[in-house]
Amino acid sequence: MTLPARFFCAPMAELTTPALRETIKSFGGEVVLCSEMLSAAAIVARSKHNEPLILKRDFEEPFVYQIVGTDAAVMADAARMLQERGCWSVDINMGCSAPDIAKTGAGARLLSDPGRAREIVRACRAAVSVKLSVKMRAGYDSSDPVRLVEFARMLESEGVDHLTLHPRHGRLGFRRKADWKLVALLKESLGIPVIGNGDITSPEGAVARLGETGCDAVMIGREAVKSPWIFMLCAELLDGLAREHVIPVRDIFIDVLGRLRDSLPPHLHKSRGHRFAFYYSKNAYFSHELFTRIRREAGIDGMIARVTDYYDAHPDEATIVICPARVREDGDAL
Ligand SMILES: Cc1cc2nc3c(=O)[nH]c(=O)nc-3n(C[C@H](O)[C@H](O)[C@H](O)COP(=O)(O)O)c2cc1C
Repeated sequence: MTLPARFFCAPMAELTTPALRETIKSFGGEVVLCSEMLSAAAIVARSKHNEPLILKRDFEEPFVYQIVGTDAAVMADAARMLQERGCWSVDINMGCSAPDIAKTGAGARLLSDPGRAREIVRACRAAVSVKLSVKMRAGYDSSDPVRLVEFARMLESEGVDHLTLHPRHGRLGFRRKADWKLVALLKESLGIPVIGNGDITSPEGAVARLGETGCDAVMIGREAVKSPWIFMLCAELLDGLAREHVIPVRDIFIDVLGRLRDSLPPHLHKSRGHRFAFYYSKNAYFSHELFTRIRREAGIDGMIARVTDYYDAHPDEATIVICPARVREDGDAL
């Protein structure tokens, strides 16, 4: 099996909204998009609140729906229902270590419960014919390479089509560096494609990790929120192009906020607007000041007004110029 792209956008709760995905896609470049993590139980209950989170437009292909939960039958039903909506893959979350998820036994907690993880994968595999994948950390409370490979081989034997590894254990959160040696180890140990993820902050880094680890694709999370154009730069770099781009950062800020307002119900505006602004404000020189002002606003129009004020005061920051370095064939930046 080959993957449809060498770059994936990471699933991120409250961030990988239709609004952000549309902006990412508008820059072009090869990228697989993903939903926010979706509660399997809420999907199966046909919760009305879930509808805006499941929204996916035709131009978003190839698309991954990610589900989270612990009950194999419920996970399988949710996977089937999402397949019916149309997607390239359904992904099972075995990476989230947020306390409210971990305490239910879901997400990264499944890494220390291989029996349940196996049941979930088996049920989902029987339920869908689209690709089935797992996004995992290196362990729940430690990154033991032997247990990691054993667990990943179990997933492969149950029919998972590809795996994403964020090589930190669950208790680390985002502390310490992602250990990409573990991505290389999984790639050597498995027959299915392996996607590496963690701490990519530049197109040069993404291309270098592909070369160093031999992984099939690289997934980018937080940096894709700050720089939704990163997938375009990655594709150009791989093709040996090192073009300069003038990025209208101010207009993109306002566009994404406007799309959030237009595509999501009002009760989601504050959380999604703030979460996006937290990362995207980092493009501004006085990012803390900008984000602090946005955070005082509960509505999107107020947030847009604060962005407008900032760039009216700092017009030279409204665009940024980017020119990626060239990368040698072995993956190192020149
Ligand atoms: C705000 C936020 C929300 C996240 N939500 C999810 C999620 O819903 N599902 C998931 O598998 N990982 C989630 N993650 C983890 C990312 O998918 C990714 O594995 C992690 O951020 C490391 O990649 P990065 O260093 O490129 O950001 C989330 C991360 C962040 C920062």
